[in-house]
Amino acid sequence: MNLIDGKHLAKTIKEEIAEQVTAITSDGSRPPHLAAVLVGDDPASQSYVRNKVRSCEQVGFESSLIRKEADITESELLEIIDKLNADDAIDGFIVQLPLPKHINEERVTLAIDPKKDVDGFHPVNFGRMAQGLSCYLPATPFGILQMLDRYNIEVEGKECVVVGRSNIVGSPISILLSRKASPGNATITLCHSRTKDIAFHTRRADILIVALGRPEFITGDMVKEGVVVIDVGINRVDDETAKRGYRLRGDVHFDEVAAKASYITPVPGGVGPMTVTSLLMNTLKAYRKEVYG
Ligand code: GUN
Repeated sequence: MNLIDGKHLAKTIKEEIAEQVTAITSDGSRPPHLAAVLVGDDPASQSYVRNKVRSCEQVGFESSLIRKEADITESELLEIIDKLNADDAIDGFIVQLPLPKHINEERVTLAIDPKKDVDGFHPVNFGRMAQGLSCYLPATPFGILQMLDRYNIEVEGKECVVVGRSNIVGSPISILLSRKASPGNATITLCHSRTKDIAFHTRRADILIVALGRPEFITGDMVKEGVVVIDVGINRVDDETAKRGYRLRGDVHFDEVAAKASYITPVPGGVGPMTVTSLLMNTLKAYRKEVYG
């Protein structure tokens, strides 16, 4: 079994980005600038956004964190987005999800200028991705592509089974891996909550990508020998013996599945760190106006 070490790979890619930032700023040009909007005090969201801001510092980007109380109105939030859209000093920005219930996430996502949508969540970027046009790829699928590519994992012609059909992971990674591209050219099966016999499909997988948010859902009996496993789940499972009162668990039962896998991502330290790297890569593209000219 080989571990796909997302933490290490993310560090390598960040070093590469940092070199590019040094080259940019060496002639006095300003560095790329990412802004993040965080609403409320959800602990997981706070931790993700802290990580994004820290990663900007590590590579030499400028970053702005805009924090708002959970009772902000939707129109106040939309005003902040309008300002960020119009601010030439900011190359890209994200609004951390989930948002409080009284705010319509769809309206918020649609308000972000696709040119600054470095999360790749706007339907314009999703549509461009689906048609193979230049776009900002959503962070998690982009991170998965990087992992497969940098670990030289053969994808072409493989049976790839994706579990979970979310707009931000399952659906886009299915589209990306079926594209005529590299990594791509795989045969995709997309499983979801209405799939009749998930294990029937997962046992056929050469590459198994799991993103459904159920701790240790995929067990050893559900995979074949030699499978490549990408575990996107990050679940907090209560554990009184843990320092913080919980442990992070993936959607895959690591010990059971690792015993049969040729490659597997750990949780934590697998896909998670790669998503932040994707965001930095998209911000660099935004700075260079590579996507929309
Ligand atoms: N919430 C969970 N993942 C993400 C992400 O990649 N971007 C944003 N904006 N919110 C998230």
